Formats: sequence, C-alpha cells, structure tokens
Amino acid sequence: MKKIIGSLLAAAVVMAGCQDQVPKENTSGVQHRVDSVLALMTLPEKIGQLTLFTSDIDVTGPTIRENYKEDIKAGRVGAIFNAYGAEYTRKLQEIAVKETRLHIPLLFGYDVIHGHKTIFPVPLGEAASWDLEAMRQSAAIAAAEASAEGLHWTFAPMCDIARDPRWGRMVEGAGEDVYLGSKIAEARVKGFQGEGIGQLNSVLACVKHFAAYGAVQAGRDYHTTDMSDRVLRETYLPPYKAAVDAGAATVMTSFNEFNGIPATGNKYLMTDILRKEWGFTGFVVTDYTSIMEMIPHGIAEDTASAAALALEAGVDMDMQAGFYNDALEKLVKEGKIRESLINDAVKRILQKKFELGLFDDPYRYSDVEREKSTVMKKEHLDAARDISRKSIVLLKNDKNTLPLSKSIKRLAVIGPLADGRKEINGSWTAAGDVSKSVTLLDGIKAAVSPGTQVLYAKGCNISDDSTTYFTNALKTASQADAIVLAVGEAGLMTGEAASRASLGLPGVQQKLVEEIYKTGKPLIVVLMNGRPLTINWIDRNVPAVVEAWFLGTQTGHAIADVLFGEYNPAGKLPVTFPRSVGQIPIFYSMKNTGRPMDANNKYTSKYLDESNEPLYPFGYGLSYTTFSYGDIALSKTEITQKDEISVTCTLTNTGKRAGEEVVQLYVRDLVGSVTRPVKELKGFQKIMLQPGESKKVTFTLTQNDLSFYRHDMSWGTEPGKFEVFVGGNSRDVKQAGFVLK
Ligand code: NOJ
Repeated sequence: MKKIIGSLLAAAVVMAGCQDQVPKENTSGVQHRVDSVLALMTLPEKIGQLTLFTSDIDVTGPTIRENYKEDIKAGRVGAIFNAYGAEYTRKLQEIAVKETRLHIPLLFGYDVIHGHKTIFPVPLGEAASWDLEAMRQSAAIAAAEASAEGLHWTFAPMCDIARDPRWGRMVEGAGEDVYLGSKIAEARVKGFQGEGIGQLNSVLACVKHFAAYGAVQAGRDYHTTDMSDRVLRETYLPPYKAAVDAGAATVMTSFNEFNGIPATGNKYLMTDILRKEWGFTGFVVTDYTSIMEMIPHGIAEDTASAAALALEAGVDMDMQAGFYNDALEKLVKEGKIRESLINDAVKRILQKKFELGLFDDPYRYSDVEREKSTVMKKEHLDAARDISRKSIVLLKNDKNTLPLSKSIKRLAVIGPLADGRKEINGSWTAAGDVSKSVTLLDGIKAAVSPGTQVLYAKGCNISDDSTTYFTNALKTASQADAIVLAVGEAGLMTGEAASRASLGLPGVQQKLVEEIYKTGKPLIVVLMNGRPLTINWIDRNVPAVVEAWFLGTQTGHAIADVLFGEYNPAGKLPVTFPRSVGQIPIFYSMKNTGRPMDANNKYTSKYLDESNEPLYPFGYGLSYTTFSYGDIALSKTEITQKDEISVTCTLTNTGKRAGEEVVQLYVRDLVGSVTRPVKELKGFQKIMLQPGESKKVTFTLTQNDLSFYRHDMSWGTEPGKFEVFVGGNSRDVKQAGFVLK
C-alpha cells in the first residue's frame, strides 16, 4: 500500500513540475503523467474514473444513488455533478483526495447553460441577438462564476438544430439554422473554455446532445430520430463539428435512438464520425442514465450488455446509471471486454484532470474569496442587461406604438408574466436565484418618471382555466393611458421533458389578451416564451408585439430599455414562427418541390386550410427606425471553381433614430446532382447606422460556401447558376445571380 502511494506521489511530482503554469493541452508531458497514474490503478479504480454521479444539491433527473459520498470514498466515482459552491465542492474534493487510495481528484460538472448565478437569456433568446461576441462573453462570464464556485465542467453548449417547436428543448440551442447554429456553437465553446483549459476562469465545454436530438419524432422528448446520412451531415452535424473544431473538451451523447441504435450505444456516431472523422480527442459522457435506457429502448437485455455496448461504441463516462461500475469488471474478467478500452477511456478523463491542474492543486477552483468577488458582480449584471436587450425581437409596431414615453401618466402592467419572478429565468437556471432577478414590473417602475403611476394586475395564471382575476385586470386597464400585457409560457414549459402539442398561449391568456384589447387602449404585448408560439390573433390585432423570451436576471431592465426607447431593438428570429402546428416542421431552407405552391393550381404543394407562409420568417425583427437595401452588386457574374465572389449591398437608415440591422446573406444553388434548399444563410453582419446614414456592406462567398454533399457524398461545388439574396430577414430580400463555370 505504502509503495503504491509512494509511486503515485512520484508520478504527482512529475505532474507538479509543469503545474505552476497553466497546463497545455495534449502535451506529451501530460500524457506521460497520465500513463504513470494509470499504471498504479486497479481495474475497479479505473472503472470508478469512468463514473459520474449526481450530488443532492440539485438533481436534474431520477435519483439512482443516494449515497454518493460513500461512492467517492470507495473510489467508485471520478466525477460529480449538481454540486457547486466553493466550500461544498472543497468538502467533496477532500473526500476524494484524502480518503481514497490513489487520491485522484474529482471533476465537478453542472448544467451551466445560460449563466451560473448571473442568469443570461435562454440560449434561443441569446441567438436572436446574432451577436457572436456577446454570446462568447456571456459564456465566459458563466464560466468565471461557475469556476469560482468549484466547477470544472459545464454541460453546454447544446448544439442541436431544432426545427420543431413542440420540442421543449429548442430553447437550449441556437434555433433552426446550420450556419448561425455553427457560429454560435463556436462562440459559446470559446466563451466557456476561454484562453485555455486550466485557466481559473474557464470551464470545460460539453457539446451536446450528440447526435440529432433536435429531430426527435413529433417533437416529443426522448423520442426516436431516423434520418438519412445526407440530412445528418448537411443539417444536424455542422454545429457539433464547429464546437469540436473550436476545441470543446467533451461531448455528451443524446437520449434518442439514431436510425435504430440509441446514440449512447452508437459506434457510428461516437467513434466513426466523432473520433475518426473529426479527430476528437476529449472524452465522451453519456446523458443522464442513458446507458440504462438502452434496456427499454430494446437494444440491450441487461446491465452488462448495455455497458458493453456503450463502451464499445466509444463512450468514456457513464452519467448516473452506474452500469459501468456494476458490469465492466466482470466483463473484463470474463474476457468479454478488452481492458484496453477501459484504459483508453480512463486516460482521456485523467488527461482533462491534469490539464485543469487538479493533480497539482485539487482545490484550485474552490476558492471562497474568488467566489465572493466574482459572482454577480456589477460587470456581469451589466453584460447580462446588454445581451438581454440585444436578444429582444420587435415583432410588430404599428403606428409607432412603441417606444412609450417615460413620462406617460398612467401605465398598466398586466399579465401572469408581468411580475412572474419564478418564471423569468426560464429553464436550466443553474445556481440562479430568482429573488435577485428583475421582473418586468420592477424594471418598468425603475424606468418611468417620478410622475408616472404604474398600475399592476395579474389578470390570470399561466396555465389554469380561471378567469377570476379578469375583472380586476380590466378595471386596471381602463384606468391607464397604455397597457403592457406580459403573457407566455411558464419557465419550465420549455427545456427537458417539456414538449407541447399545441403552441398557443397556455390557459386563459389568449382570452385575457382579447378582453384587454377590447378596452381600445394602446396595447403592447410582451411575450415570454422559449419557443415560437402561434400568436396569429395577436399579430392581427395588437398594435405592438415584443418577443422577450426568458431573459434571466436583468429581464425587467432590458425590456424596459426597449419599451421606453433607451435601446433600439435589433434582435432577429433564429427560428421560424409557424401559423399553426400543422405546418411543422417549417423552416426557411426548405426544398422547392416539383410542384411549388401556386395559389391558382390545386395540384401544387400546399395546405387546403392553411397558408404555406410562416407567421414570422427566420431572420425577422423590426427596429424603431427603418432600413432600405440597395441593389446587390457582385464582383463578377461568372466565376471559376477557384474564385471567390464578393457581394455588396448598400444599407441606408431611412428612419429618424440610430439603429442596428442584421444584414443577412443567403444563396441558392439552382440545379445540383442532389436538390438544394431554396435559400441557405451564408453570412451576416450587424451594422449600426445613424439616421440618414448609408453603408456598403460586403460579403465574400468562398468555394466552401457554395459547396455541398454531392450525389456521391463528396463535398464540393458543381458548375451552374446561383442566386444570391441580401436582406433583413429570410423573406424580404434583394436578389442577384451568377454562374459558376
Ligand atoms: C439530462 C439532459 O438531457 C442534459 O442536457 C443534462 O446535461 C443532464 N441531464 C445533466 O443534468
């Protein structure tokens, strides 16, 4: 025993040599130190390193094991999630470091999805900012707060393309688009991992949910995904790949089966694509109990076969099922599993622990002083307010109903979300404290002039049938000069296990809107929700509609900034809003079909009872100013397969206020060896213009931008005609064309 500890200490000294500086990823030094630790480990100790259990501070799924502290002591677990706080993580770390035979430190993970204590907008909302730097920064702040509380690892970013708003988890990603989703995935990984793994203000990122979880059938969570390799590669894989290319340290499997094999046991995904094609060198963790779930999926008969399937597929760490612990030792002893597979997985996990500097100082992230000085500090709150207002999308503003004057005499603030503190952080709120969040009512009260009277009425609950509070709400409305009506979803109506079959306002909220509308007062509807809603009546009748998602800690201030014109909204939808559930899936980059819609011809691709058009298209959002787009100028009208082409368009602010516009570039390849979408986003720029100011906006289209998976699945271009579109959303665009020779 003494000898083993002595050897580990010797190995640790080798480790410590480099640890006063930030450890470098993938250095042969780290690998040498990993090997020296591995050489000391028994088989059960190795399997322990492959196991991740939840603590009881916060539980994000079914509890399987109560006694995780005993597991730590016995070396049955190498990583813990749902535990945070400098003191608490230090205590748990002490058990691992002081009471286990090899003193190997624990890795602490947590779902830091949109902020740790300072809560930022839900990821779908943030995506509406189209501001990559702001998204990088919000992830970096989340990492700074989380790492000060002892965390080493976040289970983010979620990179699942989502085109079915019934699926509640759409809220956790960047929406429907491949290009935007890939850029955001990259920005978020860079934000979380900062200057590099091992920096004290960063955490390991985890790309999830691999793969194609966003395509679950009927938008029902945990359901089945079945798709061609072409759709997988064209649409679903690029954001995960962008995150891996940005250096993401870890990847999480998804709950869904993929073409008949659950992702957690899917070698094609975890080994062939992830490791062999993409060269991913980090470790793969399962989603919550998903090894166990391979039994009900019907792919594994028992614990042993499920564990073997996952390990052989390329899964390194078992989150919460405990199946690796229960089965792997016996499988190795019976010769059914090669120990080398376990060794490889252990090495990948130890490598991250080394890179984080945990072998040098296991407590380096659990720092009470840093926790105090970092968490929710002013710069973080300011950044949250900034990105929150950037995430707001102005959907409608007839007759300049907005902005409101701050010296309005009497303003009614009504609706179940007007003061809905519990809801405004949305789902996955990590360690966020709702008592510190600013509701819309708080924000409005803080913004108006001293002479303004702010009247409040709840109106109704979010999702029950009672109209009891209507009378009071109508009385309040009748006393006001204008009404801000905040309606939408409860925070937990989105996120995991939150699929919906209808997308209208829940409960009696629609009725409330219609009653309040009848007062004839200027009415502004503020929506708080984590997915597109079918709000056709509101769009037809209410003069001003503001999409505010769930904005987190600074909700009220950010919305008030927009309502009173302190900030001119510039957000654009990262996802199409359908008119009805029957249109789903609906997204802008669809195929043309052989019978494109023709209103005068029955035998064309359309519905008998619904338009093909969305309520609001992808990329849509208004401003308090107006913009006009000049004609597109191309650098050439013919290019060869070596050329780039530049696309220029003059943007003018034709209104009376300074404002920002997200200028979007789309292309269409008219004829291919396989059909191409009617439009694909290939670039965007956010441009600030003073009233009357014009600016030339230039994009460069490269050969890669014009490439696709051809008939034989090779990646490249094909000669032929292309259309180019530039505009402020995917529908209203200027158009030009060129030929690729
Ligand atoms: C299940 C969720 O699918 C996943 O996104 C999350 O990271 C884990 N639970 C851990 O809470």
